[in-house]
Amino acid sequence: MADQQISFAVITGASSGIGFELARCCAEAGADIVIASDTAEIFEAADRLKPTGVKVEAVQADLSTISGVDELYARVRQFGRQPDALIANAGRGLGQGFLDEDFSDIRRVIDTNITGTIYFLHKFGRDLVQRGDGRILITGSIAGVIPGAFQAVYNGSKAFLDSFAYALRNEIKESGVTVTVLMPGPTDTDFFETAGLTDTKLGTEKKADPAKVAKEGFEAMLRGDGHEVTGFANKMQVMMARFAPDSMLAEQHRKIAEPGSARH
Ligand SMILES: NC(=O)c1ccc[n+]([C@@H]2O[C@H](COP(=O)([O-])OP(=O)(O)OC[C@H]3O[C@@H](n4cnc5c(N)ncnc54)[C@H](OP(=O)(O)O)[C@@H]3O)[C@@H](O)[C@H]2O)c1
Repeated sequence: MADQQISFAVITGASSGIGFELARCCAEAGADIVIASDTAEIFEAADRLKPTGVKVEAVQADLSTISGVDELYARVRQFGRQPDALIANAGRGLGQGFLDEDFSDIRRVIDTNITGTIYFLHKFGRDLVQRGDGRILITGSIAGVIPGAFQAVYNGSKAFLDSFAYALRNEIKESGVTVTVLMPGPTDTDFFETAGLTDTKLGTEKKADPAKVAKEGFEAMLRGDGHEVTGFANKMQVMMARFAPDSMLAEQHRKIAEPGSARH
């Protein structure tokens, strides 16, 4: 399949990290962009992207809620053009043992990573498919293939997205719209601090550059690939996870994600 050119992209979770870099990839490819996130940091991100010369619109909305996604949809419609690329990247992690976490925090992970993401794709995806050509990129994770002891809800949410992406890809395969799932490994962003993972091995180990991760994901999206596992070590990890027993994978994850594991 030939690489698609894109002219107008919507990117969620673009105030920092991988999402910001994905927005930069779109802008540097000449696409106008609408970027969204939950905090006012999205406006600073927009200021940093404006020198690329494309139109940049920032929307502050809580995308873990139906009303937040509706607000984003309304703002994109004001552009007067339909997007030809949707990048569903907003997400958050959560460390600690499941029973030690506040349920409100657990709920926020599920509402952001799953409910908000699939509502975004449902709302915008119908228009894209009707349009008859375009690209969808979903930020999943290699966490989705590993039962994540001490990050159980997060890894479960990414297992949902990794699986959902391939199912949607298949359902709309005749539409001219492709679905790609980006599956990064540990990447150097605010994620670990937000998730409370700074005293874990996972939080303190060497991580990938978000710009490199985003570039690989963006290029895979343009090619219309099914998925992109970034980096050689992550590719090996995903391959091994397909054969290793789940109990072993959970035990390995415990060693890197258990609170205090950074000190052992
Ligand atoms: N870093 C990693 O190791 C890694 C590995 C695999 C996959 N991922 C995935 O990559 C994606 C981006 O994460 P990141 O690593 O780049 O971390 P990050 O820098 O913390 O970025 C997360 C982004 O999501 C936004 N967000 C979170 N909750 C939101 C909400 N309710 N409504 C709207 N926006 C919301 C944040 O915006 P605000 O701060 O403005 O709320 C921010 O822009 C996530 O889906 C994450 O699961 C990360």
